[in-house]
Amino acid sequence: MKKQWWHGKVAYQIYPKSFNDTNGDGVGDLRGIIEKLDYLKDLGIDIVWISPMFTSPFVDQGYDISDYQGIAPIFGTMEDMDELIAEAKKRDMHILLDLVLNHCSDEHEWFQKALADLEGEYADYFHIVDKKEDGSMPSNWRSTFGGPTWTKIPGTNKYYLHIFAKEQPDVNWENPKLRQEMYDMINWWQDKGISGFRLDAIANIKKDMEYKSFPADREDGLVSKFRMVESVSGIEVFLKELKEKTFSQIDALTVAELSSFDRAKLEEYVGDDGYFSTIFDLSTDSMEVSGNGWYDRNPITANNYRQVIYDSIREIEGIGMKANIIENHDEPRGVSHYIPEEDCNDYSKKMLAAILFMRPGLPFLFQGQEIGMENTPFETIDEFDDLFTHNEYQVALDAGIEPEQALKLVNKYSRDNGRTPMQWNNQANGGFTTGTPWLKVNPNYATINVEDQLTDENSVWAFYQKLIALRKDETYGEAFVYGGFEPIFEDQDNIVAFYRHGEDKTILLLANFQNSVAELPFTKKIDDILINNYEELAATATGVTLQPHQAVIVSVD
Ligand code: NOJ
Ligand code: CA
Repeated sequence: MKKQWWHGKVAYQIYPKSFNDTNGDGVGDLRGIIEKLDYLKDLGIDIVWISPMFTSPFVDQGYDISDYQGIAPIFGTMEDMDELIAEAKKRDMHILLDLVLNHCSDEHEWFQKALADLEGEYADYFHIVDKKEDGSMPSNWRSTFGGPTWTKIPGTNKYYLHIFAKEQPDVNWENPKLRQEMYDMINWWQDKGISGFRLDAIANIKKDMEYKSFPADREDGLVSKFRMVESVSGIEVFLKELKEKTFSQIDALTVAELSSFDRAKLEEYVGDDGYFSTIFDLSTDSMEVSGNGWYDRNPITANNYRQVIYDSIREIEGIGMKANIIENHDEPRGVSHYIPEEDCNDYSKKMLAAILFMRPGLPFLFQGQEIGMENTPFETIDEFDDLFTHNEYQVALDAGIEPEQALKLVNKYSRDNGRTPMQWNNQANGGFTTGTPWLKVNPNYATINVEDQLTDENSVWAFYQKLIALRKDETYGEAFVYGGFEPIFEDQDNIVAFYRHGEDKTILLLANFQNSVAELPFTKKIDDILINNYEELAATATGVTLQPHQAVIVSVD
């Protein structure tokens, strides 16, 4: 693996709407990010990915962009953005933007022009397709947020394609003019001094241009759009050109959100000369998914969490680095997702953190993760903002689930859990805003907040800070970043334990992913305890005893 500038760094995702509001309108803003750069620097963050802050009607919270080169007024101005980039640079920090290349907003001028002239040049920027001879839609694909991927253009016989919401028309990557517009836009941002991008839903840009249907996979007569995405080949031609015309010019860090692609081609995608620098490891987030929707997910156990992580690590060994996460803005809070509710405490939160930092790859934190923010109890369906959540609630009702139970289920998985405002202190609204927050604040801000944790050396925050420092440590950093992976105790239930063999140092994680004591036979000499979420580690010449959810990182001979 070639060494890259970002390998030893730590990244942090900001969801701007919910991070820090400086003007009391209830919505986070760019000045709010600038204000907190020192906070992030203290934590040890080097790279900040900002979810979309572009001009948008916010149907899908900014993932519906109406001007790629504009700043949404609720977030501030282009001057604020320039200042943010400059202030980050001063602190030796890097900004990544969210690149949404699969679709734009129906309010984007390209789409407006397309609608105004369905035979004109802009119509070919989209997938605008005649109805079938029998009068039906071009295909039976189901969109990510529910319902068909096709919406009829009123007063015509034509439909346009949208893999996500109907307000997010998919752009047509077969069109070289569209591609060039995207490249110009990317280069314009790169010239402004950003360091790279997170690539949204990038696997979707290649479409089956025959728009073929598949056998339905639910009673609605539709089929997941994944069937189409998986059936087409040739996306690599686009990805290669994209990299050549843009990212390669600044040695950008590009992090792909890429869920379905030919995994045999992993090296071509994220190897030394891959189309992207790295790819998000979303394997734990999707391990419970069933074909039916959120109401029908499979339970997560410590053993399958471990298995999924190990498989994911092995898949990329010798090829490159994945970008590892516990949570993001599309997920429930990790500590509520992966830890049974009754076990969710500071020990188990720190245990998850230790596992994350010991994994080979680039760690990404999501805002609030560093203080152990948890899922929010939403009392009614109307308290949710997210369109995906509303759709999944309906899917559950349609499957015959009682409303009360359906509410519980969507609460468990709702993306809004990750989107509630950041909890800065124990004052009103968790210190996020002096106004009315755009989305409910988790009432537990009184006990889970940044201010309290900053002065508590045993806080989850302090634990993350230590882990980050350790990953950059002169003596041990190399093992964290480049060390070889070797699991042990794979035959023991609920134990996540593996070595990272560095050039000079070998480090070992021992994590007890359960609410009971574990005795492990262990005869190697422990040199140093680098991290421990308990005061002590009970070790003898023949074994170690781990407390419930104890996680230690030690160096060994
Ligand atoms: C993935 C993003 O993370 C998600 O928030 C969004 O809804 C879809 N892509 C569509 O852009
Ligand atoms: Ca604001």
